[in-house]
Amino acid sequence: MKPILVKTANEMAKISREIKGTIGFVPTMGYLHEGHLSLVRVAKKETDVVVVSIFVNPSQFSPNEDLDEYPRDIDRDIRLLSELNANYIFLPTENEVYPDGYKTWVNVEKITQILCGKSRPTHFRGVTTVVAKLMNIIDPDFMYMGEKDFQQLVVLKQMVKDLNFRTKIIGCPIIRENDGLAMSSRNKYLSKQGRKNALCLQKSLLLAQKRYNEKVFTSNKIIAEIADLIENNKGVVDYIEIVDSYTLEHLYELKKGCRILVAAIIENTRLIDNIEIT
Ligand code: PAF
Repeated sequence: MKPILVKTANEMAKISREIKGTIGFVPTMGYLHEGHLSLVRVAKKETDVVVVSIFVNPSQFSPNEDLDEYPRDIDRDIRLLSELNANYIFLPTENEVYPDGYKTWVNVEKITQILCGKSRPTHFRGVTTVVAKLMNIIDPDFMYMGEKDFQQLVVLKQMVKDLNFRTKIIGCPIIRENDGLAMSSRNKYLSKQGRKNALCLQKSLLLAQKRYNEKVFTSNKIIAEIADLIENNKGVVDYIEIVDSYTLEHLYELKKGCRILVAAIIENTRLIDNIEIT
């Protein structure tokens, strides 16, 4: 079944209000990969009607970032979503989301200024604003998001709680390529060699799990080992943090259920990955 394409907020809101049954929503910036498709599959299983948005949100990119180069392939995205029987694709234009005179921003404090927020200080404000708008328009029962952007997931859960949205956010596991690289639209920027080097991210996280199994719990020791592995593969570390999975607070010692989050630049591409220590 071909999904119905919806371009305006008014039309999308009207459709959503008339839907009988539960709405599952998957927000994306397009150029879909298996990570996005896995979210659509879960949404299809768990809800009656699935809405996928495709919008490359300019407000979450800073001026020196890759907004213009960000990969786009709408026809392919529509084909992939048709194969999965997604019901609606919401494809707003930039002017539809941010019309002239737009002035309102949603900002979650503190947890947006650490980790990715340190090098991308306005990024999460863009994410929370656009997702709040999309949620107001679509009013979904459930919103499905990947755990690869773990900080984004925690920030959006905080926003949903603080602003009393009725939507429940469902975090879904990271989907990886066969060799372990976490799927990302930005992987396409990597050369063959860069792609190989990028495997150090997941390798370093698995090494951390191994150390935990060997009863090495000191965060600094593990962070140093992760940094070595990334730097030996020509990566430049942005951050390596061991945090509480709910608050994102730094932990001096690893404990079951904590998260290790890494961001590194490989060639010119900033990649992120994370692991839950079990
Ligand atoms: O994760 C993404 O692709 C984006 O940050 C999101 C949630 C679609 C908001 O633009």
